[in-house]
Amino acid sequence: MARVVLGVSGGIAAYKAVEVLRLLTEAGHAVRVIPTRSALKFVGAATFAALSGEPVTADAFDDAHEVPHVRLGQTADLVVVAPATADLLSRAVAGRADDLLAATLLTARCPVVYAPAMHTEMWEHPATVANVRVLRERGAVVLDPDVGPLAKGDVGPGRLPSPESIVSVALAALAGASRGTDLAGRRVVVSAGGTREYLDPVRFLGNRSSGRQGYALARTAAARGAEVTLVSANAALPDPAGVKVVRVVSADDLRRAVLDASNDADAVVMAAAVADFRPAVRASSKLKKSDADPAPVALVRNPDVLAELSAAKPVGQVVVGFAAETDDVLANGREKLARKGCDLLVVNEVGEGLAFDVEDNAAVVLGADGSETDVPRGSKDALAHAVWDLVVARL
Ligand code: CTP
Repeated sequence: MARVVLGVSGGIAAYKAVEVLRLLTEAGHAVRVIPTRSALKFVGAATFAALSGEPVTADAFDDAHEVPHVRLGQTADLVVVAPATADLLSRAVAGRADDLLAATLLTARCPVVYAPAMHTEMWEHPATVANVRVLRERGAVVLDPDVGPLAKGDVGPGRLPSPESIVSVALAALAGASRGTDLAGRRVVVSAGGTREYLDPVRFLGNRSSGRQGYALARTAAARGAEVTLVSANAALPDPAGVKVVRVVSADDLRRAVLDASNDADAVVMAAAVADFRPAVRASSKLKKSDADPAPVALVRNPDVLAELSAAKPVGQVVVGFAAETDDVLANGREKLARKGCDLLVVNEVGEGLAFDVEDNAAVVLGADGSETDVPRGSKDALAHAVWDLVVARL
C-alpha cells in the first residue's frame, strides 16, 4: 500500500477526480485528497473525505500543529494532480507555496504525475507550453490531454484523459519510482494487439492477443519519460494517457505504421501478434454458403516485420521481439532470436490460461549478447519494466 496524494485543481473536470480517487483506493492505496480552493467550488470536500476516509482541506493553516504543508509532500510515495489547470502548472513551475497543494508539490520527492485539463487556447499558449516543458525536464510526468469536446461546446486538445488511463500511468510511475525518468528524451515505438487478415468484409483470421502486454510497455515507457508511439492492432483497451496511438488492422497496415514511426526511434518493441499468413484473395462481398462446396482458403506469407526492422535498423537502435511458444520454449526462443536478428527476445510460454488475455505474465528475456534474464510471474507492468531496464542498459 502506497501513500498517494491526489491534488485536484479548479476546472470543470474536477468531478472526474472522484473516479480517479475511487480507482486509486480500489488499487489498495491510501489516498489523501488535496483540492485547491477553486476545486472545492466544483466538488465538495465531503465527497473526497467520505471516499478517501481522510480529512480534506485546501488550506495550509488547517491543523497547523501537524505541519501538513511539509509533511504530506515529504511522506507521499506518489502525487497525482488531476485535473491540473494552467494556473496550477504555472504555480508548480514557479515553486509557489500559496496553498496546501502547491506547498505539497514543493516538498514532494516522489514521482509526480500531472493530468492537465483546460481550454485548447490555454493548453497551446506559449506560457503553458513552457511550463509543461519545465515540469518534464524536472522529471515530472505531464500527460498530454485528450482531444475532444470541452466545456461550452468547444472541441480540441484539453480534455482530461480518462480516469483509468491516468491511474494506470500513475501506478506505472509508482512501480517505476526507483528508475526515475531514465527514458526521458528517448523515442520508442511499441506494437500491440493481434492483426486481422480479412477473408471477406466480415470474416477474418485473427489471434488471441489482447494487447495488454504491449499497452503495459507503452504506459511504463511513458511513465519513465519516453515519447511513445503505440501501434495498436485491434486491442479493446483504453488509450494509455500521454501516448500517441496509431490504430491498424492487418499485418500489412502494422508493417507500414511501425516502419514509419521507427525511423528515428531509439527502441522498437514488437509485442504484437502478427499474422504470418493472409488469405491470397480478399473477397469484396460476403462469401455465401450457397457457393457450392467450401473452397479451401489459400494463404500467402506476410512480411516479417521484426526481421525487417532488425535488418535495417539505424545504428544505436534497440529492437525487441516477443516469442510466443507452446513447446521447447527456450530452444525455440534461441533459434528465433538468431533467425530474426533482434537485440532482445522476450520469450513467453503460451497456451490455455498462460499469457493471453490474463493479467499476469512471466518470461525469459534472451539477449543477442548471450544474456538470459528470468522475469518471474508478475504483472504485465512488472514485465514491461524489466524489458525497459534491459533496453536502457543497451541504449
Ligand atoms: N512478427 C513480425 N512479423 C510477422 C510475424 C511475427 O514482426 N509476420 C514478430 C512478432 O511481433 C514477435 C515476433 O515476431 O515480436 C515473434 O513472433 P512469433 O509468432 O512467435 O514467431 P514466428 O515468426 O511466427 O515464428 P514461428 O512460426 O517459428 O513460431
